[in-house]
Amino acid sequence: MSVVLTDLSDRILTVTVNRPEKLNALNADVVEGLRKAFHDAKPDPDVGAVIVTGAGEKAFVAGADIGTFPSLTPASARDFARRGQVVLDLIESLGKPSIAAINGFALGGGCEMAMACTLRIASKTARLGQPEVNLGVIPGYGGSQRLARLVGKGRALEMILTGDPVTAEEAWRIGLVNRVVEPAELIPAARQIAGKILSRAPLAVRYALEAVNAGLSMPFHEAEAHEAALFGLCVATEDMREGVAAFLEKRQGKFKGK
Ligand code: COA
Repeated sequence: MSVVLTDLSDRILTVTVNRPEKLNALNADVVEGLRKAFHDAKPDPDVGAVIVTGAGEKAFVAGADIGTFPSLTPASARDFARRGQVVLDLIESLGKPSIAAINGFALGGGCEMAMACTLRIASKTARLGQPEVNLGVIPGYGGSQRLARLVGKGRALEMILTGDPVTAEEAWRIGLVNRVVEPAELIPAARQIAGKILSRAPLAVRYALEAVNAGLSMPFHEAEAHEAALFGLCVATEDMREGVAAFLEKRQGKFKGK
């Protein structure tokens, strides 16, 4: 059985990390399986959105596979971190919305993977954290950067320096997750949000994602110029004409992604 499962329905690709006996820890096979799944999804016109989740009821992803840590050298550890960062960057820059459906522990690389997604929905049972300092390391899959951007420097440093996980409710309170639902509602809620985004003008959704993601790593005025250029591109789309006509005619827009 593959350690990363994919299933496509209603233009939503569900990617499931499937190592429940090791709480879906990210070993080299899982990282490669995720890279391939997102690499294939990026240009695939049949994939409009992606949901990422973990197999079993206990864990989303309980982090990088600690079993591999004893054999790391400084050079191989750097490669290990870079490989994971590249995959998470691929998720973030997919050009399509991704939703982490956090069904349990999202620790270390699991929390980092969830943060690379566009949105995060957590089951009430979820726990999120960056416990690396307990192992004598620091977050290595972008966590030191994405956590501070999502929840602010003070809260990020508290989580990273204490290593203590937060409950789903606390994660919601600090803006680390968008929504908290009952376990049985997790996938339906993720699909519902994905479906709503898929009903919006696809190019506008893509450019909005780009404006936020690319803009956050630019100086503010450069990001504004980038936003303005993308706004200009939207005006060249058939969907913009359709969206505006639909509003004026008091009906729902029918978008083609053109
Ligand atoms: N890497 C490798 N194996 C892991 C793992 C990880 N990150 N997280 C859990 N596992 C394994 C355990 O070793 C155990 O394997 P075993 O049955 O062969 O002994 C199995 O998954 C179940 O985990 P266990 O620790 O028995 O479950 P628990 O309910 O007692 O505790 C956690 C759950 C999540 C609190 C605990 O597993 C944990 O702290 N994991 C590590 C989290 C972490 O530090 N992640 C960051 C890594 S940089």
